[in-house]
Amino acid sequence: MLRVGVLVSGGGTNLQALIDACKTKEFPAKIVSVISSRSKAFAVERARNHNLPCEVIQKKNFSEAGAFEAAIIKTFDMHGVELVVMAGFLTILDDSFFDYYANKIINIHPSLIPSFCGKNFYGIKVHKAALEKGVKVTGATVQFVIPETDAGPIILQKAVDVMDNDTPETLQKRVMEEAEWIILPKAVQLFAEGKIAIEDGRTRIIS
Ligand code: GRF
Repeated sequence: MLRVGVLVSGGGTNLQALIDACKTKEFPAKIVSVISSRSKAFAVERARNHNLPCEVIQKKNFSEAGAFEAAIIKTFDMHGVELVVMAGFLTILDDSFFDYYANKIINIHPSLIPSFCGKNFYGIKVHKAALEKGVKVTGATVQFVIPETDAGPIILQKAVDVMDNDTPETLQKRVMEEAEWIILPKAVQLFAEGKIAIEDGRTRIIS
């Protein structure tokens, strides 16, 4: 069983998708630690409802560079974390974290990267930008995390149609339901099964 640590900051619906997947028979991973950067995040409730070890670690409580990252690493190490999943984690981490978990951190983003990604694209802003541009298809991406935002090797993507009457909120909901909650657990499963090869900044799924 692959030991997964999850980083959250918000509602935690992707965390929930992973919790649900872990409960299914033969899923090769389990969540051993959840860390939230916000004490009021509903993700914290979700973790506690499922008796998952959960801690709130906030950047504002650390003054020295790297101390916040070290605190997360310490907690994850205590639980033997082998894969870090960023599931709506909104706090910036420094390079020490990415060095420590090189090729062992994955993130879910609510667009088809390289569209609508990068520094200022998070949450509802991503869907607003997609509607403003008038794209007919959007979706979600799971990728490895590297220091450059949303630039790591892509693992899985799933497309979702945009409807004429979509609002950012309806689009966000559909992208979650039809893409995010499906491809995030799938990527964790592929990682756990050792089926993701990284070559020249790209991944190859080993069948
Ligand atoms: C999701 O849209 C995810 O793609 C993005 O942040 C949002 C988190 O939602 N990175 P939730 O907390 O999982 O409900």
